[in-house]
Amino acid sequence: MELSEFAKKILFGSTLEDKLIRPDKIEFDDDQKFREKVFNLPFKPARSEQIGFSDENIKFPKGHFHLKEKQAIALHSFANHELLACEMMAAALLRYPHDTEELKRFKRGIINTIFDEQKHFKLYVQQLERLGYSFGDYPLNDFFWSYMKDLDTPEKYTAVMAMTFESANLDFATYYEKIFRDLGEDEIADVLLEVLKDEISHVGFGVRYLNKWREDRELWNYYISQLPWPLTPARSKGQHFAYSPRLKAGMPREFIQSQKNYKDEFKVTKRKEWKQ
Ligand SMILES: [Fe+2]
Ligand SMILES: [Fe+2]
Repeated sequence: MELSEFAKKILFGSTLEDKLIRPDKIEFDDDQKFREKVFNLPFKPARSEQIGFSDENIKFPKGHFHLKEKQAIALHSFANHELLACEMMAAALLRYPHDTEELKRFKRGIINTIFDEQKHFKLYVQQLERLGYSFGDYPLNDFFWSYMKDLDTPEKYTAVMAMTFESANLDFATYYEKIFRDLGEDEIADVLLEVLKDEISHVGFGVRYLNKWREDRELWNYYISQLPWPLTPARSKGQHFAYSPRLKAGMPREFIQSQKNYKDEFKVTKRKEWKQ
């Protein structure tokens, strides 16, 4: 199957069967032809009614994870993030050129990452179904997708996807693995552990490429320079900062420290103003 056909199936196909496609072999479209095809980023990825996006917002549970319903809402939200990741990665495959060996390798990396995200989605949905729920039972948001329009280069895409969203995922997976483990919910905890392990490699992929592309610029400054406004490194971490998965992903210590210390001054001041 050609790369563009694979990516289009995920982005413009509306069923889960489309989104979870896994061809044995993916070949690069001819460079010239690929560049001639104009790719228009859709307003939203296609989704059938059953798994469609909703403007309604369901709050992520703050606690009470011993309750099946809270577990289900959490799993449902995690699964949606995996599916959104597949759709954004498919858009990345269609949006950037692959006329150099380096870009071909970069896209191979994205394809393998999509396979992992599809697996994560399935693992979460399995747990959801074990609890008696289905994917689509709760409203689904498209929050991450809204950033896609600004990611017009592989550099920006990598800064946002791997170094920001997937980096934050290292904290969430670490934190919730422990929550569910402590509750004796080992099946859910095991899934989070597997996701964590894969996400470390996804962040590692980002570190490798930004390191290549930054040339003699300092990694942290380069990373920040690639973030589209209003996205800041505040989004690259959860409330509970996990140091060791970042180290395993190959983030330099100074980078991790800058990420840890980063404070979104604007938001902090704003928040204070609201309280007054
Ligand atoms: Fe994932
Ligand atoms: Fe990932």
